[in-house]
Amino acid sequence: MENDILKVLYSQEDIHDITKRLAKQIKHDYAGKNPLVICILKGAIMFMTDLVREVDDYLEIDFMDVSSYGNETESSGEVKILKDLDTSVANRDVLIVEDIVDTGRTLHYLTQIFKTRNANSVRICTLMDKPERRVAPVHADYVGTTVPNEFVVGYGLDFAERYRNLPYIGVLKPEVYAH
Ligand code: XMP
Ligand code: MG
Repeated sequence: MENDILKVLYSQEDIHDITKRLAKQIKHDYAGKNPLVICILKGAIMFMTDLVREVDDYLEIDFMDVSSYGNETESSGEVKILKDLDTSVANRDVLIVEDIVDTGRTLHYLTQIFKTRNANSVRICTLMDKPERRVAPVHADYVGTTVPNEFVVGYGLDFAERYRNLPYIGVLKPEVYAH
């Protein structure tokens, strides 16, 4: 699997540093609020679990699965709920945790939905931001790092469902896409 990687963008250590920095801000901003931390499946699983472990305060977690990508690297423009929350967001301080904001369509849609469901507040925490690709107006409140317009894999992010288990974030060799 490692042979498929052209270059490493963020090592395990880089990711740990980013996560610690964001967790510190979140602990500070949500002091006394018991936020509902929503992990967007599947890409954000590693990031969310590492992030909340660094936040030494009360919070709750839930999961939501939405699709905007097939097995391709381009967005379909459509967002569909595949798995909804178990928890009501009404009057909750919602913190959406995402792996990457690309076109912004997914998070724009989710932010609207949580507001319609009467969340008290909705904020976004993303490990990576690809601002070059933005189509929908999305502002992430907590951004780990800004990435160039390259397709990245690892640490939860996939290409055709593979590479999620890489402990770092990298770019695939061009020949991998050709298969
Ligand atoms: P939008 O376009 O709605 O999409 O902001 C966000 C979702 O698209 C996926 N995505 C990626 N997945 N490498 C990936 O493995 C990438 O470089 C990439 N860019 C976008 C991702 O699932 C994210 O949640
Ligand atoms: Mg995703």
